[in-house]
Parts: sequence; structure tokens; C-alpha cells
Amino acid sequence: MSALVDGLARLEYRGYDSCGIAGLENGKIFLKKRPGKINQLREEIKNHLSDKLLLGILHTRWATHGKPNQANAHPHLDCHHDFAIAHNGIIENYLKLKDELIGAGHKFASETDTEVIVHLIEKFYKGSFEEALIKTVAKLEGSFAVAVISRYHPEKLIGARKGSPLIVGIGKNENFFASDIPALLPFTKKVIYLNDGEIAVLTRNNVNIFSFSAKPLKSRIEKVKLKAEDAQKKGYEHFMLKEINEQPEVLKKTFSLYCKNNKLNFPDLSFRPSYLKNIKKIFITACGTAYHAGYVAKYFLEQYCGVDAEIDTSSEFRYRKLNIKQGDLLITISQSGETADTLAAVREFRRKGGKALSICNVLGSSLVKESDGLIYTLAGPEIGVASTKAYTAQIFSLYLFALYLAGIKKSLTKNQIQATLNELSKIADYQKEILDKCVQVQRIANKFSKLGSFLFLGRGINYPSALEGALKLKEISYIPAEGYPAGEMKHGPIALIDEYRAVVCIAPRDNLYEKMVSNMQEVKARRGNVFGILNYGDKEASLLADEVIHIPHLKNQFLSPLLVAVALQLFAYYAAKHIGCDIDQPRNLAKSVTVE
Ligand code: AGP
Repeated sequence: MSALVDGLARLEYRGYDSCGIAGLENGKIFLKKRPGKINQLREEIKNHLSDKLLLGILHTRWATHGKPNQANAHPHLDCHHDFAIAHNGIIENYLKLKDELIGAGHKFASETDTEVIVHLIEKFYKGSFEEALIKTVAKLEGSFAVAVISRYHPEKLIGARKGSPLIVGIGKNENFFASDIPALLPFTKKVIYLNDGEIAVLTRNNVNIFSFSAKPLKSRIEKVKLKAEDAQKKGYEHFMLKEINEQPEVLKKTFSLYCKNNKLNFPDLSFRPSYLKNIKKIFITACGTAYHAGYVAKYFLEQYCGVDAEIDTSSEFRYRKLNIKQGDLLITISQSGETADTLAAVREFRRKGGKALSICNVLGSSLVKESDGLIYTLAGPEIGVASTKAYTAQIFSLYLFALYLAGIKKSLTKNQIQATLNELSKIADYQKEILDKCVQVQRIANKFSKLGSFLFLGRGINYPSALEGALKLKEISYIPAEGYPAGEMKHGPIALIDEYRAVVCIAPRDNLYEKMVSNMQEVKARRGNVFGILNYGDKEASLLADEVIHIPHLKNQFLSPLLVAVALQLFAYYAAKHIGCDIDQPRNLAKSVTVE
């Protein structure tokens, strides 16, 4: 059982405000749960961690319904403690179900939506565990991945999936459920990705899968390519720092996979060139950092491919009245492939007849299953809640796709494509140069982290860089930070400038450089503290900045977000470290937002 707790700890990045464990011991369910992190729970359950305990469910929570306290932590039990459940997702009709169950005499112990599920199982249980679950899931609206144990069936672990990820791990004389692959890696690399509408029944030596209508289904065992150590820190103090430093390797791997002998090829794209050639409009949708990557892509898709490209956050995109025309393409971007709003946006777009290309980092994720075409980012497991290597991998993959599309559309000449590919092949080395400035970045971060709030300014393709730099800083240091198009300064934000505010100015020598210099002058004239992200050898802007990180100058400045990102990731990391924040697991956040 202690190995299971280790497995759970590998999922802590998905949510960590409370945790719990339920197991079968001497014919009874024992339950231990508490607010706080898994290591605190480990202490409390150490005398239950004997290996004679052969069946259990564990959960680490990101609170949706009910604050993070002991009562609301998972697992949850039914009235007579015959069943225990762990759940990921949101049961949208839980209040109605809860009223009905209370009316039928059920006693609830928490404020959660999850608890209605285990009481429904109790209500429907007439001897068959599977049947009780089938009747239960038929009542549920919303999203769920559940694992359930019962003291009536000490040999069985059953689970069901609809809208939230659930993976079966096939071990030697043992089988597992998990929400994500890292938890399984120490035990097995043989997995079955459950699909929506499927139930799995696990015993020590068997796995049976069937649909919510009880139709038996074939097992589809896949081999995971990741290694257990991929999801470890490898000597870095934080996952985030490890992942920032992995970026050059990720880009080299991506380049070598998708560009062989100067020929671009995407094995899982599955869109015919004849379809791609006629694309006139590309919609882009994502959340958070992935949204910023899509925003960068918008600029170069327009620039290179002569298409209209529009971007919106998934939470907005999914509710808009879209004017989708035949042949329009949706590009969705998601590290986890499980972000609820992005999944909903893809489903809605495809329902309306559009085609979706997903840029995703997790094989077997829901988004992968629900897309018409795929480009995998090869970033490996990203454990730090703040997305870093996935971000630059997303942008890099989208650059390569844009050049591929430009070749099909002949919107760029072969020489132009080749010149850009040549420079893309050097980006990893340029990133290394910036990573080598970590001591300088740390000094600047220590100095600036004392300031009360930040404004990040950029123009053109580095406006999204400003948005991303602000998000990185705020989500791990909790310092108020806002990304803004520099041209908007005079329309309001300039009122904020004074000696207590830091202004990060992203000003590579591109066609908007002079405009950025003017913005820096406006900030300096109002005693703002300027941190410049500038090119080597910069004279003019450097004179205006209080602190500068110089980055390599690129012939094609459209590639500069790949370098700016590394400088601002390091800046955010060291600012949060200086303040003493929990960098890999910032408060209130979770790595994958699988609920709306
Ligand atoms: C980024 O640092 C955040 N962790 C968050 O904004 C994240 O990018 C967003 O939730 C999207 O996640 P996804 O890429 O897995 O869809």
C-alpha cells in the first residue's frame, strides 16, 4: 500500500489541497483523509501501510464543491460504510440527486458533489457491484472518473469514465486505476485508456471492460513509452526548474522528428494536402499558457500562410455563435489534453462540421481521441503546475506546421521556408545561452520581486509573450502581474506607473522596436522600474532599462517568443523562490483543469 501512496504522490500536481485513502482491512473499509498534502497523510496511515492491505483507493483533491477540509476530502463512504469512492470531475445534477437521497433517508457527511455517487451505489446495490455502478452512472450528469471499492467484494476494484481521464494499469498479479500515467510508471507500462461511457472491473489477475449499457468491450492494451524517471526531478530543486532547462532538448527532439532532410512531415496530422491547401480560416482555441502559444501562432499563421487566424480562450470560444465555413480548421492546444473547456470547444466545433487539429503533449488523452488531426509535442511529462517546456514545444511545433502549410499553399518560397527551418534548428542552442544567464536573472528577480506589481509590455508577436510572462509570474509568486499590448499604455495602464511598479519591456530589434523604446521612455519619465528583454548589443533601449537580460538576435524575429519565454520563465521562477512560494504546487491551482 505504501507503493500506492508513492503513486498518488506522483499525481499531486493535479490537485493538492487535501487527500485521503480508503482500503479493505479485516472485512471492513478503513478511511483516512485530511486537508493538506500527501506526506502529512503518509504519517497518519503508516500503520495501515502494511503490504497485507491488498485493495485501496487514494485521492488527492483540487476542491470544486466544498472547501478543502477533512469532511470534503476523498474518498467518500455511503451510510453504512459498505462502499468507498474517489472521483475526479463535476456532477452537475448533484443537488437534485442529493435532495432525493436525503429524502430517502441517506445521511451525508460532506458538501461535495462526489458523495451523491457513493450513496446512489448504495441505493442500487442488490448484490451486483457492477450493476449498481451501471444504474448509478445512468443518473449522473456532468463529468466523472470514479474508482470504487466495496467490503462485499474484496476482490474487486471498479471504475467508470465520462469526461475525465481514467487509465487502467496492467501489472503482474495486480491492476490499477489512475488519472494520469506518472502514477502507474513505477508499477507498469501496460495501460488501457478508458473511453467515455466505459466501466472497468479489475481483480488481481483480470480486467474486464464494458459499456454503460453493460455491453462487453475488447481490452486495448497499449505500451507507455515514458520512463518512471521522466517524472522525477533529476537533481533539480523543483520540477519547474528541471522543465525550464529541458526545453533545448525538447526542441531538438521535435525538430529531428518532424523535419528530416529538410522535409517536414507530421505522422499523425491525417489531413490531406488537398484539404490543407484550401484552408482560408483557422480558429485557434486553448486555455492559459496554451492560449498564449496559440496567440503567438496566430501571428505567424497569418504572416506565413495567408490565412485568417482568430484566437479565443476555450471558455469563451465554446459559447460563441461561430460562423464556420466548409474547410475551416480549428487548432486546439493543450498540454494535458484534458482541459474541460478546450474539450468542450472541440466537441462543439466538430458538432458544427468543422475539423480540429490538436497540439497535445499526452498520448491517449481525451483531446487526442476527439481530434481529426494531431501534432504531438514531445515535451515529456510536465509536472510543474506552471507550464514551461510545453509552451515552447507548442509554439515550436506550430511554427513547423505553419511552414508545412506555407509549403502546401506556396505562400512562402522554398528558400524562405529553408531559411526559417535553418534558424529554428538553432533555437535550442540560443535557449541554452539564456539558461546560462540564470545567476543574472536570479539577481534581477530578487531585486524586482520586492516591487508590488508588474506590467509586462510587448508588441506584435511578443504581445502574447507579455501575457505569458505575466501569467508565469503571478501563478507561482502571487505578485499581481498583467500582460498588455504596449500600444495600449496611453489608453489607461500608464496611470499605474510609479516607482513602486516594475515594467517588463520585451523589445527585440524587430519592426516595432522603436515603438517599444518610446514606451520605455514613457515609463522612465514616470519613475517606473524597467526590466528590459533586449537583443545582444542593444544600445538605445539598454540605456532606458534599470535591468536587462540580453537574448540572441534572430534574423526572423517571428521566432523570438521561443527565447523571450525562457528569460521570463527563469525570472518568474527565481522571483517565486526568493519569496519562498511553493513553486511546483502553487496555491489554488492544479496542473490540469478537468472541470469547468
Ligand atoms: C499555465 O502555467 C497554467 N498551468 C495553466 O494556465 C495551463 O496552461 C492551462 O490550464 C491549460 O492547460 P492545458 O495546456 O493542459 O490545456
